[in-house]
Amino acid sequence: MNPQLGVLAIYMPGRKLEELSFYRKLSMYGQKLGVDVFVFTPDDVDDNRTRIHALVYNKATRSWTRRWVGFPPIVYDRCRYHGADNYRKITRFRQKYTNLRYLSRPLANKWTVHCLLSENENIAPHLPSTVHYKSRKQLEQFLKKYPIVYMKPKSGTGGRGIVRLQRLRGSSGYLMQGRDANRRILPATKVPAAQIPTRLAGWGLQSKYIVQQGIPLELKDGRVHDFRMLVQKDGKGMWQVTGCAGRIGPPFSVTSNLHGGGTAISMETMLKNRFRTEETVKSIKETAYTLGIHIAQHLEAKFGTFCEAGIDLAVDPSGHVWLLEVNPKPSRDVFRLTGDLQTYRRAIRRPIEFALHLLEKKAAPKTDTNHLDLVPQSPQSESHQDPSV
Ligand SMILES: Nc1ncnc2c1ncn2[C@@H]1O[C@H](COP(=O)(O)OP(=O)(O)O)[C@@H](O)[C@H]1O
Ligand SMILES: [Mg+2]
Repeated sequence: MNPQLGVLAIYMPGRKLEELSFYRKLSMYGQKLGVDVFVFTPDDVDDNRTRIHALVYNKATRSWTRRWVGFPPIVYDRCRYHGADNYRKITRFRQKYTNLRYLSRPLANKWTVHCLLSENENIAPHLPSTVHYKSRKQLEQFLKKYPIVYMKPKSGTGGRGIVRLQRLRGSSGYLMQGRDANRRILPATKVPAAQIPTRLAGWGLQSKYIVQQGIPLELKDGRVHDFRMLVQKDGKGMWQVTGCAGRIGPPFSVTSNLHGGGTAISMETMLKNRFRTEETVKSIKETAYTLGIHIAQHLEAKFGTFCEAGIDLAVDPSGHVWLLEVNPKPSRDVFRLTGDLQTYRRAIRRPIEFALHLLEKKAAPKTDTNHLDLVPQSPQSESHQDPSV
């Protein structure tokens, strides 16, 4: 019998599941690699907690069918935040079933992740200056230091609730732009520094927001851009940069997220358009790749084993690479959208290959090194890059 990999999902209104087409592709690759993939939610566990009424993809009929299955040895948690009720369900499931191996894990909020990463001397130079919002005075001081400032909810996603403040030349005011909590683009307005918190009254600045040095990312046409890198564990348990692609925000947006209307472009094309020489492009790419690996290793040492991270990176006009955010449950769509199907397929395959690696290690007789992957990694233990990508 093939080993099983359970994808942990959550029902959306109408018992809909997010990412079903990704799960279908996972199932197909699973079949090729000898792993039975099924999808389930905490609601599909029977009352005796012994079986799961899971969704299994049937390749022949090209449809999902329900089947009773046992608990899988490995769980790929793909649940993103969809309201407090769903969040509680997932947390309860993970707390109840601690004996299962989880391929992915929730990381901490943006502020905690920033604080943890700033401990690492390889990563710290790539972190934009960031503070937790405290007061109007503190914000005013921060605004004096940096010509562009981003205010972001520390637990936000998809560009929601993000505001950019840009110092206006020859004026004491700031250009305020951004998106509200529902991701709607806010009309650009001119605001004196002292009035910014009043304009954002009700946004929960003190409890929810970080304030960050803004990286100038405007392209010639005024749209902003950044990069999304996918870092994954491979079939040997080594961290690899699976790929990295550029994203360009829609007009009048200060965020580049694909779900907010951003478009994808290859990293090479983006960098070649912005930087003159091949050497500069090569060196930026190398710095970004090494940084991606360092970030994954550092977070793994803090939180325990996980299989992948989506890392938002920015490259400023001088070529310096900055970290904007780390996502623990990344989409791989950016590679499909750039047409880099080889990377896209590899990005789907890798979690299955890593699951197989964990299962093989479990089955192998115990040696001293056998359980290395089960404990937090030392930052240097898995430094490895994939030059082929
Ligand atoms: N410090 C910054 N400087 C410039 N652009 C930023 C900065 N922080 C965020 N952005 C823009 O906003 C987008 C969303 O920010 P991010 O921190 O990734 O939050 P989210 O979780 O909402 O994706 C980024 O992809 C980037 O386009
Ligand atoms: Mg992001």
